[in-house]
Amino acid sequence: MKITARAHTNIALIKYWGKRDEQLFLPMNNSISITLDQFYTTTSVAFRDDLKADSFILNGIEMGGHEVDKISRFLDLIRQTAGRNEYAIIDSVNNVPTAAGFASSASGFAALAAASTKAIGLDYSGSDLSRIARFGSGSACRSIYGGYVEWNKGVRVDGTDSYAMQILEESKWDLSILSVMVEARQKKVLSREGMTHTVKTSDFYSGWLETIDADLNLAREAIHGRDFEKLGTVLERNALKMHATMLGANPPFFYWTGATLDVMHTVQELRDSGIQAYFTIDAGPNVKVICQPKDEMAVKERMQQIQTVREVFVCHPGPGVSYIGE
Ligand code: ADP
Ligand code: DP6
Ligand code: CO
Repeated sequence: MKITARAHTNIALIKYWGKRDEQLFLPMNNSISITLDQFYTTTSVAFRDDLKADSFILNGIEMGGHEVDKISRFLDLIRQTAGRNEYAIIDSVNNVPTAAGFASSASGFAALAAASTKAIGLDYSGSDLSRIARFGSGSACRSIYGGYVEWNKGVRVDGTDSYAMQILEESKWDLSILSVMVEARQKKVLSREGMTHTVKTSDFYSGWLETIDADLNLAREAIHGRDFEKLGTVLERNALKMHATMLGANPPFFYWTGATLDVMHTVQELRDSGIQAYFTIDAGPNVKVICQPKDEMAVKERMQQIQTVREVFVCHPGPGVSYIGE
């Protein structure tokens, strides 16, 4: 049976940057995100007994090598759990740029987790799906849920308590998240490699770990209290801190370009002029600017005036994973 699922990307307000167990995808710290309404992946999966290998089609192109291996390793977990051994045809479309810091790995593996478990006959709850999606890409465990989401790092060594939970529904607090694209090219250092190198070598990583709980507490309080200034202040500081850990790595590396800095400066100028806007940046040069819906038009116009900005997408908090065609 062919099953189709859709999952949206998410943007972390408090970041996941480092694993304590790479095999089990266990993070060093909790992270908090917003699921986005405009960016998503739609994936169909069909297990068939006439296939000799998994086949992964991404945006209409048959993938090979490392890309299909990642998918096969993930499906092996599902096959093992279900006690089945058929290979699958996976057809996936990203309505988001792939591997460019727009979290395609999050929507991609959340959609794959939902479609493949159902296609193989497993009856999974949200937390089961979140736990399994983690094995494709850590950030994917947050995309199972809509709205404001926290990934609990868990304390068990087997990782069974490491999964995400919704902390506030998408309809309970509307914010504008402007995805400011300065480059759509794929990044050179994938998130996975970047965080591993940082944990291993960064002189600043201990500072990240020492202050993360304070950031998480502030963000949680701000979300529950709908305190925009408080949330904006901590999310921007947390993003800069994450990027600082890369600067402290050996050898150091960074994802920013001149255009990234142009956007960061403009956000600070907006604040000086009395408009509350804050930025966050993942493992890539693109910037997400967060503001209140009343300021959305003004912030968007200001971003579009920056010479080095290519496109501005406006997102709002979006839904969790869903099945299509039911
Ligand atoms: P991003 O910022 O896009 O999340 P990452 O470096 O975290 O970048 O992840 C990119 C990787 O995610 C891709 O190389 C691919 O392995 C995986 N990925 C992207 N889209 C999909 C998809 N639709 N289904 C499965 N895996 C995907
Ligand atoms: C900077 O989830 O893409 O976007 O677990 O190795 O697949 P893997 O990495 P990934 O890392 C995301 C890093 C981040 C921050 C975040 O989304 O929390
Ligand atoms: Co990713």
